[in-house]
Amino acid sequence: MTILFKAYQPQQTQEIISLFTDTFSNSEGKDAGEAINALVTKQFAQCSNEQLQCYIATAGDTIIAAINLSSLMFTASGIKAKLLSPVAVSSSYQRQGLGRQLIEFAKNELKQQGIELLVTYGDPNYYGKVGFQAVTTEQIPAPQPLSMPFGWIAQTLDGSQIPTIGGQSTCIEPLMDASYW
Ligand SMILES: CC(C)(COP(=O)(O)OP(=O)(O)OC[C@H]1O[C@@H](n2cnc3c(N)ncnc32)[C@H](O)[C@@H]1OP(=O)(O)O)[C@@H](O)C(=O)NCCC(=O)NCCS
Repeated sequence: MTILFKAYQPQQTQEIISLFTDTFSNSEGKDAGEAINALVTKQFAQCSNEQLQCYIATAGDTIIAAINLSSLMFTASGIKAKLLSPVAVSSSYQRQGLGRQLIEFAKNELKQQGIELLVTYGDPNYYGKVGFQAVTTEQIPAPQPLSMPFGWIAQTLDGSQIPTIGGQSTCIEPLMDASYW
């Protein structure tokens, strides 16, 4: 079946929340599923269209992958940055290149919107395959202290060197919860 990539429509919000919840429950257990459910529910409920972008992959009428990207702001720079969190590929579609394709699609969409920097906090073994490189919090400040600093990773969307920003950063309120960091 043809897989399509696109921006989400608000009426798809509940299906996307279910996809995130089921995928994380399957891969990391019920508690992780509940935690991601709480996060994405708040993201969709509290963020403006400017603060939160969500892109999806569909097969027919079914959403099989989703990625949320939200604003990351710096006190020391006006660089336009987004924080990738979370991303999920439905369990039966994993390891077929779909996560990579969705992230590449999202990067291209963000670039066209003038976004310059993409940052995430996750497994460098996976995200290293889609262009992310380790950064320090001195280089790019994190919104909260990090329990796993090696998971703080970034990439520019024009392929230029990752800048040293310094100062402090803030993210959307739902992601400020220290337990995520
Ligand atoms: C992580 C996830 C989004 C990856 O999507 P996917 O479609 O399975 O990944 P892809 O098939 O595009 O894989 C791209 C590359 O990463 C590798 N990869 C996939 N999952 C990986 C993992 N968990 N750890 C390390 N490498 C991984 C693949 O082998 C592939 O590498 P290759 O091209 O060298 O073979 C998906 O497995 C998922 O939804 N997992 C559960 C939720 C989660 O952990 N989300 C990420 C944290 S927010």
